Amino acid sequence: MSAAQDFVVKDISLADWGRKELDIAETEMPGLMACRDEFGADQPLRGARIAGSLHMTIQTAVLIETLQALGATVRWASCNIFSTQDHAAAAIAAGGTPVFAVKGESLEEYWDYTDRLFQWPDGEPANMILDDGGDATMYILTGARAEAGEDVLSHPSNEEEEIFVAQIRKRMAQSPGFFTRQRDAIRGVTEETTTGVNRLYQLQKKGLLPFPAINVNDSVTKSKFDNKYGCKESLVDGIRRATDVMMAGKVAVVCGYGDVGKGSAASLAGAGARVKVTEVDPICALQAAMDGFEVVTLEDAAPSADIIITTTGNKDVVTLDTMRTVKDMCIVGNIGHFDNEIQVAALRNLTWTNIKPQVDMVTFPDGKRMLLLSEGRLLNLGNATGHPSFVMSASFTNQTLAQIELFTKGEQYQNQVYVLPKHLDEKVARLHLDRLGARLSTLSQEQAAYIGVTPQGPFKSDHYRY
Ligand code: NAI
Repeated sequence: MSAAQDFVVKDISLADWGRKELDIAETEMPGLMACRDEFGADQPLRGARIAGSLHMTIQTAVLIETLQALGATVRWASCNIFSTQDHAAAAIAAGGTPVFAVKGESLEEYWDYTDRLFQWPDGEPANMILDDGGDATMYILTGARAEAGEDVLSHPSNEEEEIFVAQIRKRMAQSPGFFTRQRDAIRGVTEETTTGVNRLYQLQKKGLLPFPAINVNDSVTKSKFDNKYGCKESLVDGIRRATDVMMAGKVAVVCGYGDVGKGSAASLAGAGARVKVTEVDPICALQAAMDGFEVVTLEDAAPSADIIITTTGNKDVVTLDTMRTVKDMCIVGNIGHFDNEIQVAALRNLTWTNIKPQVDMVTFPDGKRMLLLSEGRLLNLGNATGHPSFVMSASFTNQTLAQIELFTKGEQYQNQVYVLPKHLDEKVARLHLDRLGARLSTLSQEQAAYIGVTPQGPFKSDHYRY
């Protein structure tokens, strides 16, 4: 990269290919295109300086260009070291957007790129964060707490945290007061995923959230679609691209039966696998059982499993002890946000044979082999290309509406976590019906009055669960 270039991508010559796929994606992202039509003239994001940390895929490229069409200036990095689509990053960089994302980047590079989200050429800070998993937010907030003299850097618990801490220390040495200035300039954060939202609620609970946040994940048109129907398509896609294994007839265990687990179990069942589910929550366990899946413990099921997929957003779900019991050539992967669901660190001293990027065969001392996907990072983005455009359009339309809301009305919000109002959720869904040829029925005034709504909606109370 030359000094004049404000981007890092694998190969800028991939831009043409990326642009062609972007053009196709636009035809499958009606919600984002409708946002451009509806808000383009008003430019509600003029003056927004968005630091975006979200998988740098083709679909994200359409989101980036939508935010720009509404007036925003953006800088972008991927929120996972394996999830970037290099042609998408190239297309975005070629269009003049500072993007820092390479599929297979190192963790040092990952945190350097996250830092570069906040290094605007004019030296001014970002004023919005668009986050997926919370890393960009945690980077700024942890740095600001360190600058305030809090002891938040001295006890990294693993190698990844050491790298994170080293990056913060480096920035503190280079630019004293940077994190505090940056934190104070942020009007709000919009967060994409379950794990990032959990982090935000924890910050709110501890009184450590210094700006308002919108929980995009819990828009119904996000978590009940992206997490579920998205994984239904992209989980098996990832396993197939990684292994080409025949799935019909195989035994697959899905850990967790939340939204991602439901989509993942459906994905594997659709491929003909015999699916078993593990859960800690009796409600989700009952749902799994009544959806026709055997509910088991991983300890019991692992020795007969051909495929084990964890979807929990929790840590230490697939332990070393469990992996010792799996059969030869069992496929083990994660589709939750962080890589701590599988105890990958505990496998490092075994024999690893790299089959191809993001596919490793790990051999145990007794000769038993296990196929590990994406080194335990989310495999649908590491081994395949994530969810299809159509479902990401619903997610990213929520993101766009949330950015507009916090950028234009941030001062009306407390430093808390909010979800978008139901009428906007319904609007996002409405924007996606035409593409599927779906025709809505209309309530008469009498029918609407009878069920206590208006014919225009919202059609459900806030406590309705879908
Ligand atoms: P969720 O909260 O709806 O579901 C997680 C489920 O795992 C819960 O039902 C919980 O009871 C269960 N669970 C927790 N610990 C467990 C354990 N030790 N054993 C068995 N079950 C356990 O969360 P959601 O929305 O399904 O998200 C899960 C993860 O996937 C999060 O990290 C989220 O950020 C990520 N995600 C990944 C996507 C992808 O494309 N790869 C897309 C959307 C979300």
